[in-house]
Amino acid sequence: MRNFPRVTLLVSFGVLLGGGTACTEPEDVVEPVDDEQLGQTQSQERLSSAERRGRDIWFNNTYGGGAFFAFLAQHPDPSKRIRIAFTEVLNTPRADRFAQWGLINDPDCEANPAGGPDVCSDPSATGVVGIRKEPGPAGTTFFGVACASCHAGFDPNNPPADPADPNWANIHPTIGNQHAKFSKIFSHNLAATDVRRFMFAGWADGAVDTTALFNDNIMNPGVVTAFWDQKKRRTFDIGTGHEELRNGQGGEDDAGGNLASVRVYTNIGVCFAECVAPRPDRPNPGAPIDIVQCKRDCANYPPDEDLDDMGTFLRSVKAPQYPGHPHQVLTYLRGGLTFAATCSNCHSVTGEGRKVYSDDEINPMDAQTTNTCRARSTNWDTGKLWAQFSSDVFKNRGFKGYRTMPLTGIWSTAPFFHNQSVGPWATASAAPPERAQAYEAAMLEMMSTTRVPKVNVLPVALGPTIPAGTPLTYVFSRDPATGQLLCDDVIENRGHTYGAELSASSKAALIYWLKYQ
Ligand code: HEC
Ligand code: HEC
Repeated sequence: MRNFPRVTLLVSFGVLLGGGTACTEPEDVVEPVDDEQLGQTQSQERLSSAERRGRDIWFNNTYGGGAFFAFLAQHPDPSKRIRIAFTEVLNTPRADRFAQWGLINDPDCEANPAGGPDVCSDPSATGVVGIRKEPGPAGTTFFGVACASCHAGFDPNNPPADPADPNWANIHPTIGNQHAKFSKIFSHNLAATDVRRFMFAGWADGAVDTTALFNDNIMNPGVVTAFWDQKKRRTFDIGTGHEELRNGQGGEDDAGGNLASVRVYTNIGVCFAECVAPRPDRPNPGAPIDIVQCKRDCANYPPDEDLDDMGTFLRSVKAPQYPGHPHQVLTYLRGGLTFAATCSNCHSVTGEGRKVYSDDEINPMDAQTTNTCRARSTNWDTGKLWAQFSSDVFKNRGFKGYRTMPLTGIWSTAPFFHNQSVGPWATASAAPPERAQAYEAAMLEMMSTTRVPKVNVLPVALGPTIPAGTPLTYVFSRDPATGQLLCDDVIENRGHTYGAELSASSKAALIYWLKYQ
């Protein structure tokens, strides 16, 4: 290969879907999740009927998105073809599945004694939480994904003894699956010579580039963000008369929960044929999705009442609390004061953001910014694919950066930052004290200026001009038309060294205090 390879545009927008196969029947039936309990967070309180319905949508509904993955598997352009490893995941013996793929076995299914996919009583279930069957054309089966396929993880207060054999009480709906091997799931079926393998290899466990298939040509995998305590978060006036939450690592999804959800649904294939694929009246492949047209033309467009109920459910999720009480009262008080002095100009301790320790503001890029590639994402900009899903406030801000992340429940979600770059993973069955050890290690690594730089590089040369050792972002963050480098930031674990100057005992106190928030 002589030039930088133009491999990053995985989806050809230049080709119409044949035969309009993308939409199957609208799924208006909501399959109930086993109602017993759903992780500690949910089981401790009774869910209202709207919350319960919203939870079932979160876990089960795919709105015909499976047709998109079927399309990708047969993409007319072989260089863009990609067959996500659904079949291989589901055929992996249940007892090995978590270890192999990091995906969570559906507690309502059982290993098939004859081998092959699990046996489930729900006809749409596959054996994996959030991966669902959809009827394809002519008796075929498509696999679609529900929100929980990525967002559900193990409950830090009630982890499974065996990660391959969880029950519903072990599953937390929104903590994010820190162990999902998205990289392997995406690259498993690529040819050995396919250079996209190297790009996927740069994704840490638990991180996925949501702009890889709908490409902004920037290599920017992001962690499946843990989120909770939405009711306590700041909201913002975006000029629509409604105050809205800010979502997204860069605050891009800021125009309301329902719109953000619809955007994500299109990102996992829903309404691809009607809303995203190019047509004669929409020839520019990256042109903004037109929400009014999309809703009109796509029978699978998620109904408002589904989005409302899902939003209601998501708002009900609270941060996991570290068990017990802080008995070291002086240390605790000192930690709180240290945090207030060192961290609170972003992680608020007063005002609206105080209950989750975040002002939810976007921090302009400076020397303390963590790896900037994710923040440079362009898909929400004026004229780009997701332009109608971001507010004018976002578009007119004049700068990009990272949103201050809320810190309640942070004891349970190491490693840190949008790209999983600082701190270790706890094991999937780690009890709270063991999880907290990973948190404590991550905090010490974070409050330090001596991190060993992590750079993702090519393990082999890609032809004479791209030697082994080239940072992946130099290869995969390029404008395919011009070759222009779109993100040159090679160090994954840089920035955000606040608190590095504190004494060891002040750091310890801060870490102790924050563990209980
Ligand atoms: C393929 C895995 C995947 C699936 C499926 C998925 N998400 Fe996400 N989600 C992510 C990732 C990765 C992020 C972090 C994105 C970022 O900001 O970089 C995220 C972020 C979010 C956030 C923002 C949280 C915050 O505080 O910023 C919300 C809300 C969300 N997703 C909702 C949904 C909904 C609703 C669905 C189903 C329609 C869904 N997600 C399906 C991977 C997924
Ligand atoms: C100038 C604003 C600012 C200050 C000051 C600041 N932070 Fe942050 N913090 C951020 C931003 C922005 C992020 C998100 C960065 C990312 O995800 O890449 C973040 C992320 C974090 C995270 C990781 C959250 C997660 O979910 O992975 C932790 C932990 C954290 N901050 C703790 C602290 C502590 C402790 C201090 C004080 C010692 C502090 N921060 C000071 C802006 C700030």
